[in-house]
Amino acid sequence: MRKKLKVAVIGGGSSYTPELIEGFIKRYQEFPIDELYLVDIEAGREKLKTVGALAVRMIEKAGLPIELHMTFDRREAIKDAAFVTTQIRVGMLDARSRDEKIPLRYGLLGQETTGAGGFAKALRTIPVILDICKDIEEVSPHAFLLNFTNPAGIVTEAVTKYTKVKTIGLCNLPIGTKMLVAKMLGVDVSKVEIEMAGINHLNWTTKVWVEGIEKTGEVLDIISGVKGVSVKNIPDIEWEREFIQSVGMIPCSYLRYYYMKDKMLEKQLQDLETKGTRADEVKKVEEELFALYQDPFLNRKPPQLEKRGGAYYSEAAVNLMTSIYNNKKDIQIVNVKNNGILSCLPDDVSVEVNCVIDSEGATPLQLKTAALPPHIRGLLQVVKAYEELTVEAAVHGDYQAGMQALTIHPLIGSAELAKRVFSDILNGNKEFLPQFSRYKD
Ligand code: G6P
Repeated sequence: MRKKLKVAVIGGGSSYTPELIEGFIKRYQEFPIDELYLVDIEAGREKLKTVGALAVRMIEKAGLPIELHMTFDRREAIKDAAFVTTQIRVGMLDARSRDEKIPLRYGLLGQETTGAGGFAKALRTIPVILDICKDIEEVSPHAFLLNFTNPAGIVTEAVTKYTKVKTIGLCNLPIGTKMLVAKMLGVDVSKVEIEMAGINHLNWTTKVWVEGIEKTGEVLDIISGVKGVSVKNIPDIEWEREFIQSVGMIPCSYLRYYYMKDKMLEKQLQDLETKGTRADEVKKVEEELFALYQDPFLNRKPPQLEKRGGAYYSEAAVNLMTSIYNNKKDIQIVNVKNNGILSCLPDDVSVEVNCVIDSEGATPLQLKTAALPPHIRGLLQVVKAYEELTVEAAVHGDYQAGMQALTIHPLIGSAELAKRVFSDILNGNKEFLPQFSRYKD
């Protein structure tokens, strides 16, 4: 008899969960999940109840024998699970809203994963994830931790540096990029291959092939000067043709914050006056979604979920689990330990690159692109150094590492501003940053 296939979703009350359920249903034949545990914290009780009830209706409609459990007992959920996924938001959307607003006070970009906002999120999140890892080490040491929690690359790096847990960091951008490229070139996504290099939310599509024929130049032409080539959560400001040609690779949407810093800041400041930050917008979308989820007749993922930035998230997650489970040896773009693949970065940091996925996990593939050019290497190295320092700051409550992280970040670049922003972050997050308790006012 085959062993029961159990999956634990930490942060199960998230509004994204119906996506994941849809993914499990679609792929049931290849990934015959027996037990699905949705776990959350007490403060998320109502959300978990609502999302869980919708999940039950979706599974019933599909007529599948998946047992669904809702619990606040994390260890019970993790015990003997083959896969643990995390999609948590420490401090919920209020904390995200603060992360986005604090930098704006100082004329700096306010974003949930990039720059000072991402730094604050990492400080809050890493200790909680390391705690989850302790549970995994104790009650399910063979489980894979698939981490979606942002900032996903930094969180993955903390896990690989400080625990024994087998982990892979996951983001929807790679699969979203592949879908977008297929749409732009008017071909089926199954015919498209892409190579990506970089780190999470700071990566470049180095090459695009359609049925083995390289199309990178064509895609660069298409994405220049047009709308509609950004993810939902990032302002759709057009890439300038000459600039994109000089990059020579396709930048991910988040690179707008670096390459078009002034325009993006101007847009954020305008939005702040009119509709607030992205977190404020997401709060409204979430209210709408949870109202829909409460409908006892709803038994499918509502299309309104597509207003969120995490499109294709379930596809990325279920693809990964299915390939590990079936030892598929296919190629997916995920976050793993570098181990020399990007030679300009240390071996023990996390990178987001093409990997072979099999029952052992994800093994990074040698790049087909020759060494990364200086304009990409330079930005990558400095942001990675910021990430390394951020991990140290988060794990050890190391104020000096935090100060250096913020100061060298290309979206901050000033010791004085770093100090002021850091102080606001520490004061605004008192209850979530016990590792920094000695530094607060
Ligand atoms: C993108 C990113 C995700 C992020 C999401 C935010 O797709 O890749 O890492 O979580 O957007 O979307 P939201 O709707 O919460 O702003």
